[in-house]
Amino acid sequence: MSETTRQLHIGDCLRVLAERVADGAVDLVYLDPPFNSKAAYDSAFRTPDGVIRRRAFDDTWSWTADSEREFAELAGLDGAAAPRRLLETLLELYGPNDLAAYLVHLARRLLELRRALRPGATLYLHCDPGAGHYLKVLLDAVFGVGGFRNEIAWCYTGPSAARRDFPRKHDTLLRYTKGDGFTFNADEVRVPYKALHTDRGRPEGRIWKSRGRLRDAEVRAAYLEQGKLVEDYWLDIPSGGHISVRERLGYPTQKPLKLLRRIIAASSNPGGVVLDPFAGSGTTAAAAEELGRGWICIDINPDAVELTRRRLTADHPNLEIETGSL
Ligand SMILES: C[S@@+](CC[C@H](N)C(=O)[O-])C[C@H]1O[C@@H](n2cnc3c(N)ncnc32)[C@H](O)[C@@H]1O
Repeated sequence: MSETTRQLHIGDCLRVLAERVADGAVDLVYLDPPFNSKAAYDSAFRTPDGVIRRRAFDDTWSWTADSEREFAELAGLDGAAAPRRLLETLLELYGPNDLAAYLVHLARRLLELRRALRPGATLYLHCDPGAGHYLKVLLDAVFGVGGFRNEIAWCYTGPSAARRDFPRKHDTLLRYTKGDGFTFNADEVRVPYKALHTDRGRPEGRIWKSRGRLRDAEVRAAYLEQGKLVEDYWLDIPSGGHISVRERLGYPTQKPLKLLRRIIAASSNPGGVVLDPFAGSGTTAAAAEELGRGWICIDINPDAVELTRRRLTADHPNLEIETGSL
């Protein structure tokens, strides 16, 4: 039996986390949950008999008996006092609407994810400007204001139907850490300097002024070679619609491998465990496997889990994957 964690679960991540993932077992969480986009998403799988279309997931929300129950459950949970107060205030302001249902659903799961993270571990929540501002306040309540590390704008281009607004062309990645001593591998996420900051207009091979000091050509060359730490706006990763045909799997909202590689390389170490509770097509597992990390992936949609299993075993035929269903 392999020592590396490789787990694939079908089920609501709340239940799977509670029943299958021990306290502090995880080094990094990436979650790309539904965004409250008020839309339904279909997958389109290519088969020898043609393309099969199926509902993948529905992202419309309303206040239901489940919302009521999950809100009530917060009362007894460790670390839930602040998120509960926040949700109470929102419920008072707006009433039990779709947004409240969505935030209660995520609050319950974020608390469970926090429990599963080891001290010093990191969580990235992928969202968009629709509910991102509420999710940031919710994460402050779950991790403490001191847990906030970055709000990253993943920027992309593409056609837009907007005529009376600026086209919305970025997603947001909220990065939080659980306590001190977190991992951040700066050298793993460097990008080249722009030409503007490199050689242009300078006497060849002589001097370069940086931070008030003159550097010689050799030092300068090494500095340029190393590249710079990528900023908190990412312009160099094409969006889902531009994923290469080879990478595309027909799952809606599939994220590019390059995005997950950067997150995993920055915020975990080889041998660590990365967890994705809304795994979709398994991009997190594929990137984690490539980078030598263990992984736990959960999705409520059996098609998504089967797709992830096929994706992983196509690239690594002898992989031992523990599977479960709840
Ligand atoms: C935005 S997609 C994730 C896409 C993924 N990042 C990728 O690269 O393919 C969200 C996923 O969450 C799943 N999902 C929705 N509610 C869930 C829940 N309560 N527990 C587990 N998975 C859930 C959906 O089936 C869907 O596959």
